Amino acid sequence: MSITPYVRPSIGKMAGYTPGFQPPRGSQMIKLNTNENPYPPSPAVAAAIRKAAENYDRLRLYPDPVSSCLRQTAAEIYGLTAEQVMAGNGSDDLLRILLDTFIDPGEQVGFFDPSYSLYPVLAQIRGASPKVFAFDPATPEPVITTKGIKLFFITSPHAPYGLGFSNHFIAKIADQLDGILVVDEAYADFAEESALSLLDKYPNLVVTRTFSKSYSLAAMRVGLAFAAPMLIAEMDKARDSYNLDLLAQEAATAALLDQAYLEETVARIKKVRQKFNRQLTEKKFTTYPSQSNFIFSIPPAGFKAGDLYQYLQQHQVLVRYFSTPPLDRGIRITIGTPEQMGQVLDIINQFLKEKGN
Ligand SMILES: Cc1ncc(COP(=O)(O)O)c(C=O)c1O
Repeated sequence: MSITPYVRPSIGKMAGYTPGFQPPRGSQMIKLNTNENPYPPSPAVAAAIRKAAENYDRLRLYPDPVSSCLRQTAAEIYGLTAEQVMAGNGSDDLLRILLDTFIDPGEQVGFFDPSYSLYPVLAQIRGASPKVFAFDPATPEPVITTKGIKLFFITSPHAPYGLGFSNHFIAKIADQLDGILVVDEAYADFAEESALSLLDKYPNLVVTRTFSKSYSLAAMRVGLAFAAPMLIAEMDKARDSYNLDLLAQEAATAALLDQAYLEETVARIKKVRQKFNRQLTEKKFTTYPSQSNFIFSIPPAGFKAGDLYQYLQQHQVLVRYFSTPPLDRGIRITIGTPEQMGQVLDIINQFLKEKGN
């Protein structure tokens, strides 16, 4: 018996989200394809997990349904109240909660293209009507008409170009939008500005953050949303009751409490980003100025990004290549350790020599 007729047509038609490739455990590849942190999480995280493991009898019981300790800690660090904070099972969980809270089927959800490719997928699952604005890195803060849009996603800094949006631009969109503006700040710890400072002024603003990048906790699946208490209270109704497990709550709290470690690793990544960018420019690559832990770079004339992607992969380096225009011009490379980036540069040099005329 075929069950296909029972599937919602909108789900049946869609392709679904394709996450970046995750090589099997034990792989020796240099993994620079999904913007993870090359450094381990703070040692305080290991201590917190060890402590939780020692008290493993606690695993019988459900975790704190509202992640109180994590929310309170985040509130103190960001100068907010716990009522302005919500925790998610990764920031992807929060993005889905936002759609479930604010969007009825047929309502308009706005976003740039290219940007985070999960937005259209979530919109499709929800039966929303996507309103797509072409993003051109040459004019990164365009004038747009937001009439009719109920929920608007801006990835800031932008992914995959890495460019930062100014708070001036964010505020302008928040002002003109008759709906909820979500600023997805997955990479904000590597950036110059954050929209968190706009929260007091804009009751329609939601800022999301992740622990997967700057805090080196991609495996734990933790994200945070910041917004006016009234919005958080409504979003809370659309959340799974126990959306964060015990270890995720403890690990993220410990990571937050070690701000010195965060600052140190972020500073290291920014330094490597600057050096790598300069080295690629010397090789005549075009690289967008990045405020993230990755760069988007276009090889010099005569070389194809898709060929470079394959060459790197053959030499045990994984980066991200999007095969459709306009992104097929370049590759997105996560910033790794200085040693990793040195190796990547050697392989790029080899590619240019072998494939050049
Ligand atoms: C722009 C953006 N938002 C959200 C996420 C997802 O983060 P999380 O791991 O917290 O679900 C990513 C992950 O790559 C991202 O690039």
